[in-house]
Amino acid sequence: MSKFTKIFYKITMAIILAIETSCDDTSAAIVKDGKVLSNIVSTQMMHIEYGGVVPEVASRAHLQKIVPVVNEAILASGIDKNNIEAVAFTKGPGLLGSLLVGVSFAKAYALAKNIPLIEVNHLAAHVLAHFAQPPYPSFPFLCLTVSGGHTQIIQVNNYLDMNILGQTLDDAAGEAFDKAGKMMGLPYPAGPLIDKLAALGKPIFTFPEPKLADLNYSFSGIKTSILYFLKKEKEKNPAFVEENLNDLCASIQETIVRTLLYQVEKAAHLTGIREIAIAGGVSANRRLRTLLQEKATANQWNAYVPDIALCTDNAGMIGIVAHYKYEKGDFSDQDVSPSARFPLG
Ligand code: KG4
Ligand code: ZN
Repeated sequence: MSKFTKIFYKITMAIILAIETSCDDTSAAIVKDGKVLSNIVSTQMMHIEYGGVVPEVASRAHLQKIVPVVNEAILASGIDKNNIEAVAFTKGPGLLGSLLVGVSFAKAYALAKNIPLIEVNHLAAHVLAHFAQPPYPSFPFLCLTVSGGHTQIIQVNNYLDMNILGQTLDDAAGEAFDKAGKMMGLPYPAGPLIDKLAALGKPIFTFPEPKLADLNYSFSGIKTSILYFLKKEKEKNPAFVEENLNDLCASIQETIVRTLLYQVEKAAHLTGIREIAIAGGVSANRRLRTLLQEKATANQWNAYVPDIALCTDNAGMIGIVAHYKYEKGDFSDQDVSPSARFPLG
């Protein structure tokens, strides 16, 4: 228990500095009374040339960027930095070397300013991104969290009370987009580019949609079927990918999106919950957003889709979780360390 927990009493309008360094985005935000005043994200572009995030390169880049990004977040928020009452950071899950930079910075800041330290689960933060701006989902709601590292259906009972109903057994949905893109020669991360090119094509090619009996996902089969399909077609016509790129992107996107929403529909049916949200980097996908709206109309759900800037990794969402933990006086000690596999709940 932190020394601040014992002396804590509820102070409204708390100003929190939040830090996010779990993967390849260095981000800092100022959150006041649960409202995001500033949210600065610096994405590390150097990973593009390697075709994926290189952990060692990512942690070194976080070290270089953390101080300027924090300064920019404070400046953009218009607050006086002496009024910051707590510092929050992503404890995990994520890349250990990347997390370490954010954790170390937050610990040093909290120690120097003698303010509480708040650890945040990155996946809970993606879910609570929905409380950055209205309309807010009502509890309980289901949240499909789809990112480069995770694919989960989460039942959210309250701000800090969530449980996983289903998750991927192998690749994450974002990984499936990125790996399929790589097979077609697209740069990393391929997800946003597939989304863009798909809008110019039609889903004329079909790939098997895995429909697991429970609420879990598996994307490795889709990846293998795309690999063999491309191999076969390229043997007949070496220019197959170039000539059909837009249709291929539309087809791959359709398969992944339908697979995602099939299990969400099942989860909604099983739980009787009609408040449905999507979160994480892949929730920026336009086809996923459209199909979710269509399913919402058909099933009489209320669907919640955050702003694109709040879908991908950002410290604003970390600050929102921290706000609710601050209200409860749930603080960490200085001996807290990052956790690459930090489980939700
Ligand atoms: O949540 P996020 O920013 O970082 C992680 O925590 O992983 O998600 C990044 C993932 C990448 O795999 C990227 O390709 C995917 O989200 N992504 C998209 C789109 N925008 C980002 N996938 C499909 N369509 C998009 N528009
Ligand atoms: Zn994320």
